[in-house]
Amino acid sequence: MALVDVEIIIERSKIPRSIEKFLHEANIRTEDYLNHSRVRPGGFVPSDFVAAYYALRAVVQHNLAPGRLFCEWGSGFGVVASLASQLGFDACGIEIEESLVDAARDLADAHYLPVEFALGSYIPEGANEASGGDFDLEGFVQDDGANDAYDELQIGLDEFDVVFCYPWPSEEDATGRLFDYCAAEGALLLTYTQLDDVRIRRKEGDPEDLY
Ligand SMILES: C[S@@+](CC[C@H](N)C(=O)[O-])C[C@H]1O[C@@H](n2cnc3c(N)ncnc32)[C@H](O)[C@@H]1O
Repeated sequence: MALVDVEIIIERSKIPRSIEKFLHEANIRTEDYLNHSRVRPGGFVPSDFVAAYYALRAVVQHNLAPGRLFCEWGSGFGVVASLASQLGFDACGIEIEESLVDAARDLADAHYLPVEFALGSYIPEGANEASGGDFDLEGFVQDDGANDAYDELQIGLDEFDVVFCYPWPSEEDATGRLFDYCAAEGALLLTYTQLDDVRIRRKEGDPEDLY
């Protein structure tokens, strides 16, 4: 296994007032968007932001991340990227739906958070070819015309220290394989699933051995 679960106890103690205020506004904006938006292309469903905050705070408290570069894959309203920024990460998000990129930028700007959001796909161009055709993109939301978001950010996927993603159930395996194949050794993948809460895994080993 190249993705290894990081077993830590995630403390759920009190959330700072500033984070509570941020989350209160994030929830209001998210609900308003969901009530009024007609577009749900890749299917925007917000994760459990409080659970994501606790997991990220545990990553910081236990010094688990190899560095400070954070990316939220499929960032939606960018709430988790904005929380990561408030926990000291250099955070960005990648989102395929333009109205959500705008909403994420507005929310971060309203709180003076230096979070960058790129419009495009978090699946890097050529991921399949780079794996010799072994990397299966089936199950992912695909948009052939999507920007190369990593190009826009000028950061490669293999430079991120921590990635957070809330994939559809059909995307969960593929998300792990994509991270396994493309991320840096030592990097952390945090995934939210309604079943597992937030799962923290670390990439270990050489991807060449796996595919
Ligand atoms: C389940 S929502 C989670 C949103 C946000 N991360 C959160 O935790 O609240 C998944 C998001 O991923 C976006 N998405 C799906 N496939 C994508 C892709 N290949 N590249 C970028 N964004 C994608 C969707 O538009 C949607 O906003």
